[in-house]
Amino acid sequence: MQVHNFEKIWLGAAILLIVGFIATISYGTVGAGIQMVDDSGGQISAQAVQNGESGTAFDDPGVVRQNDSHYVVYVVAQQFQFVPGSGDNPIRIPADTRVTFRVTSADVLHGFSIVETNVNTMVIPGQVAEVTVRFDEPGTYGLVCHEYCGAAHHTMGGSVEVVPRSQYDYQEVSD
Ligand code: CUA
Repeated sequence: MQVHNFEKIWLGAAILLIVGFIATISYGTVGAGIQMVDDSGGQISAQAVQNGESGTAFDDPGVVRQNDSHYVVYVVAQQFQFVPGSGDNPIRIPADTRVTFRVTSADVLHGFSIVETNVNTMVIPGQVAEVTVRFDEPGTYGLVCHEYCGAAHHTMGGSVEVVPRSQYDYQEVSD
């Protein structure tokens, strides 16, 4: 069989493209510190969260210190705010420390996205979304709901204040 040079070049280019596509998909899946949000956060009753009777840390959401190098942030998303996160109640966490966000919804589907980071998850009522990150750069990061959740969806946002680790003072919330 005779294959023309011109055809060989096209064949080569097509194979290169396919290999290139597979490489970029592979990199996007396992490279660049990208992790999928799975179901490891577990399930919870949205109604119980709304009533503050879930018997979990979501009844009094906020930052919980596990140890010096690991903090867990419990956040409740509800029409149309993050608690904590929205209004004059930003989420304050230390830089250079492992931080696990556990986010759930008290009503409908919301989103939880921290601007300029790869923290981005849906917040599904009945489920706890769990994302673990480390912020290298102190600063104030925007927090947005990026899933349509009702008439005031566009107003649902907040902020995350990442303070240098040495300046972080954690106050145990007690009641
Ligand atoms: Cu909550 Cu959009």
